[in-house]
Amino acid sequence: MRHFTSVYDLPNLPDAIKAAQEIKSNPYGFQHLGKNKTMVLIFFNSSLRTRLSTQKAAMNLGMNTMILNVNQDGWRMESELGVVMDGDKPEHMLEAIPVIGRFCDMIGVRAFAGFENKDDDYSEKILNQFIKYAGVPIISMEAATRHPLQSFADHMTIEEYKTKPRPKVVLSWAPHPKVLPQAVPNSFVEWMRQTDYELVVTHPKGYELEKSFIGNVKVEYDQNKAFEGADFIYAKNWSSYAEYGEILSMDKSWTITTEKMGLTNDAKFMHCLPVRRNMIVSDEVLDSPSSIVVDEAENRVYSAQTILKLILEG
Ligand code: CP
Repeated sequence: MRHFTSVYDLPNLPDAIKAAQEIKSNPYGFQHLGKNKTMVLIFFNSSLRTRLSTQKAAMNLGMNTMILNVNQDGWRMESELGVVMDGDKPEHMLEAIPVIGRFCDMIGVRAFAGFENKDDDYSEKILNQFIKYAGVPIISMEAATRHPLQSFADHMTIEEYKTKPRPKVVLSWAPHPKVLPQAVPNSFVEWMRQTDYELVVTHPKGYELEKSFIGNVKVEYDQNKAFEGADFIYAKNWSSYAEYGEILSMDKSWTITTEKMGLTNDAKFMHCLPVRRNMIVSDEVLDSPSSIVVDEAENRVYSAQTILKLILEG
């Protein structure tokens, strides 16, 4: 595997899940792979879990890591081609990316959707510039349209907690006061479509995901109906794709509560974090034994380590 930007980059998904489980039981067993190798982690956006879990994954493999917070520590970077650089961005990606590539053996990149131009976001303009110019493998640490390291950890967590071969997994929209990208739900749906789980997506009208991501997945606009018999509730807010980047609803009746969890088959509650309490989910649900959000976050280390290991071996 050269780059990791989506589930489609994996040579074999069941093998990757098995490898992640093996790494979890023996995290320091492959330190020889990363000896004298360096990973640079570049953040255009904030992070807690991705930063720490990916760094920990690299360290577990014996690698060195360097972190660059572009908008705080580095020069602001221009990504447009052919522009007159007379503004507030003194460095162009065309030089910055290959220079960073000369300093390391792989690069993790976090670059969210900018919401200024849907086509730029959905063509993964920034991530693809890294792939084109870095000269080393690129790992998406959440790009404009996908968060594959998160989806891998989500899948691994469901495998750990499922009590039947084909669990019902429900992705539910929930309210949030800020404009959030579609990367996590896109990626979660895309990843779950590679499994044989029963997948249902529920959201208010207007929040339909882009067609290539949702495919033929069942969309149920009645959240209560969607929750019936669910084994996993995966909550997430996202902004509208059709009315790009707009908040169309703040309907608190979509907040995940104990009453709603009562409609399920004693479902586990999942969220990628950070989560806004009593907006997305009630305190009561998040503090209950049904919530597996911390275990889900821990699995970010082992899913990332599996990806880095595959790249080091490749
Ligand atoms: N879930 C996740 O990616 O968390 P961070 O934004 O804190 O990295």
